[in-house]
Amino acid sequence: MVPAAPADPLDLLADAGLARRDGALVSGTVPLEAIAAAVGTPAFVYNADVIRARYRRLAAALAPLPHRICYAVKANGTLAVLRVLRDLGAGADIVSGGELERVLAAGYAPAHVVFSGVAKSGAELARALEAGVGRVNVESREELERLAALASRHGRRVRVALRVNPDVTTDTHPYISTGRRGDKFGLPLDQVEAAADVARAHPSLELAGLAMHIGSQILEVEPFATAVERLLGLAHEVRRRGADTLRTLDIGGGLGVRYASGPELEPEEYADAIVPLLRGSGFEVEVEPGRYLVGPAGVLLTRVEYRKHSGGKEFVLVDAGMNDLLRPSLYRAHHELVAVRETGRGAVTADVVGPVCESGDFLARDRALPDVAAGDLLAVLGAGAYGAVMGSNYNARPRPPEVIVEDGRWWVARPREAIRDLFRSERLTPDA
Ligand code: LLP
Repeated sequence: MVPAAPADPLDLLADAGLARRDGALVSGTVPLEAIAAAVGTPAFVYNADVIRARYRRLAAALAPLPHRICYAVKANGTLAVLRVLRDLGAGADIVSGGELERVLAAGYAPAHVVFSGVAKSGAELARALEAGVGRVNVESREELERLAALASRHGRRVRVALRVNPDVTTDTHPYISTGRRGDKFGLPLDQVEAAADVARAHPSLELAGLAMHIGSQILEVEPFATAVERLLGLAHEVRRRGADTLRTLDIGGGLGVRYASGPELEPEEYADAIVPLLRGSGFEVEVEPGRYLVGPAGVLLTRVEYRKHSGGKEFVLVDAGMNDLLRPSLYRAHHELVAVRETGRGAVTADVVGPVCESGDFLARDRALPDVAAGDLLAVLGAGAYGAVMGSNYNARPRPPEVIVEDGRWWVARPREAIRDLFRSERLTPDA
């Protein structure tokens, strides 16, 4: 007997703004097949209405606190996505000079931009000063001194926060855990007060806050609560030592999302854990979510090129590779795969692999799927965050287009990269 095709992960489809109509997936009301037919595959599709709903839900959960949501641009820096969040009132959390230019191009007020990052270059800091970013989150004593010297030279006073490493462990992948003792991020707890004294004493610096970010894809509330308590304790201590300009606590991002069906960390649970700690503390709170806002809103559409049976295994070969979506290869991350149109052919257990010449190029391994055939379309769920932004041109593969669905229509926010653009600026010889 042929095994039945796996049931649709209805909770994940709902998270993504997807539903099945007449056997095929629609995003909002737009058929994914129509988008794939028009722009080709692979292609990223982001549902802007989903992003808006998620932003509003988080803002409502945090409403008891004076707060600002600064979107972590690294999760998805496509200008149209930045614009959607800017229109809702989000600020931006950036980590490079490149992200700074992106947010300025998307119309963010420089005052609403926070510059994080563990090894900002002198040129990046200088450009941030010139642009007038709202705050720089400093991660080392040497960075503080470099920034102070630059600010004096430019005749500016710059608002800074000290990023603290609160030494908490989280339940996430080690590559994306950032707040443990020994991680490269932030100042260790025992160096914060001395750094604060330096910042407070320097005429070109205004010590505006303390910051932290303990990691990404965190699904339990305890580490957030522990870290917030530590940050608060430090902030009170630093204020007691005379830093009366210290008014902001930037508690980072990290809210996890579900990549497989089942319960998830709801923003209300997150808020329930931290609001009682911060309410009435006298500090304004900033959060820097990336994945929570945009992750579930995006899918990667990919088409099956071939099937084959080899070494006792089934393979589904698709046109999206690790250069398009690196997360499965890099973190062994799970992304749900859904057939865009029901096949009516039962199930298969297969490795879903891309065209890139590496055995680590896979989207899923040993996965029960609808029994797809060449030409069928698959939607890779949860591809809105850390998808397109982590893409590369490996194997001379152009980057896929990025499509926005909103208000019942769709449009191309970024066209597919042209192959000639991959080597347009190269030279064949020293003098040609
Ligand atoms: N703030 C700072 C300082 C960060 O370093 C990050 C993420 C965020 C905010 C946003 O974190 P989120 O809310 O998105 O969890 N490439 C990995 C994730 C790396 C996250 C790095 N920092 C992945 O694909 O899972």
